Amino acid sequence: MSRFAEGPDPVFHELNRSLPFDRRLWPQDVAQSRAHAGMLAAQQIIGQEDRDAIHAALATVETELAEERFPFADADEDIHMAIERRVTELAGPAGGRLHTARSRNDQVATDLALWVREEADAASELVTGLMRALCNAAERHLDWPMPGYTHLQRAQPVYLSHHLLAYVWMLDRDRVRLAAVRASAGTLPLGAGALAGVNFVTDRAAVAAALGFEHGPAPNSIDAVSNRDFALDFLAAAATCATHLSRLGAEIVLFSSEEFGFCEVSDAWASGSSIMPQKKNPDAAELLRAKAPRVAGHLVALHGVMHGLPLTYNKDLQEDKEHLFDAADTLSLCLRAATGMIATTTWNAERLHAASGDEMIAAVDLADLLVRRGLPFREAHGVVAGLVRDALAAGVPLSGLSREQLAARSELIDEEYYEVLRRGTWLESKVSAGGTSLDRVCEQLADARALLAA
Ligand code: ARG
Repeated sequence: MSRFAEGPDPVFHELNRSLPFDRRLWPQDVAQSRAHAGMLAAQQIIGQEDRDAIHAALATVETELAEERFPFADADEDIHMAIERRVTELAGPAGGRLHTARSRNDQVATDLALWVREEADAASELVTGLMRALCNAAERHLDWPMPGYTHLQRAQPVYLSHHLLAYVWMLDRDRVRLAAVRASAGTLPLGAGALAGVNFVTDRAAVAAALGFEHGPAPNSIDAVSNRDFALDFLAAAATCATHLSRLGAEIVLFSSEEFGFCEVSDAWASGSSIMPQKKNPDAAELLRAKAPRVAGHLVALHGVMHGLPLTYNKDLQEDKEHLFDAADTLSLCLRAATGMIATTTWNAERLHAASGDEMIAAVDLADLLVRRGLPFREAHGVVAGLVRDALAAGVPLSGLSREQLAARSELIDEEYYEVLRRGTWLESKVSAGGTSLDRVCEQLADARALLAA
């Protein structure tokens, strides 16, 4: 019997139906139904035989879904109704007792929280894999100098290992964010009913324990069915992580161009041109660059769905899923691609060396020489800026300026000026913690490795 005299308009059915995308929540829906039926029997809300019949039917449903031979029906609106319908077909009247003390509102929130928790863990694993690939690449290029940039202008030289390790720390913050997502999805919505609670003495703590919600049952039933903060949190963490991959991709695009020539992605991560036979395009890196706004777009879209939404459940909330699913799939794909690409990218020692050998890059070191002679840094900066102008005007490197030209800028400059330029020690002079001297980079690499081993 139904309240409705006629069935849904086909267009409404298509609009309303979430089965095409929420069917991937089936493992979560089976798990929670199992836990729910177990609790109902333990509380003597349903009989043991009913529970056993439900559990047996759920086992069949699970196999059918895993083997992709579950008999979906056109009328199935979503995965929750499809599974309940099938359980009732298989278990008879006992199946009709499964939805006792449960609503699709607390059911869908629970499935989604379970899914977000698993997905956050999976993403974190992939992030760890990429961190490992970056550490390995850093180790292979420990003392390869390269120019460091600000404003994309050569600024100060650094070691390639130091530059690659920068991404490791960015990614480690992503892992921290993903762990926080797991915690934010750590309270159990189930048991909230439609919104007000249910007319039975349930044991929500037992269900929370059975499903691994370590923060126990959500304390407020109204909040429990309205809450999608954990989905926003996942999307925010995913968007930031995708943005990190985008910056990595962008640098690989730049560095692998002929103009830079710093690196070359392996053939397995590049494609050719349909017309220009000589081309090798870093498509994977370009796509890493371009996928990030798509993930961030999903975050913005869900904020749009949630903002101004009255409590409690509204069908609007069904729109959370496609944003989450696409963001998670996109992030996973990008993380796997970044890992493979970084592991096989080769770096060109000569090009890196030539680009970082530019004497101009020693300007700060020359200013610091004057600082050690007692000149305030701001004045030393001015003196060296004058020398840079002199060198550029004369078309010579900094070491090509004469003693007289130096003296004209400051009487504090002596032979050691040439010495600093000759030694070329401006990498090894960066001894501050987190700096580019080799000892510091090795320390950093060891810290990063320890983080990965933990
Ligand atoms: N397919 C729905 C969703 O994804 C399930 C919850 C429906 N609840 C309801 N009262 N109509 O949000």
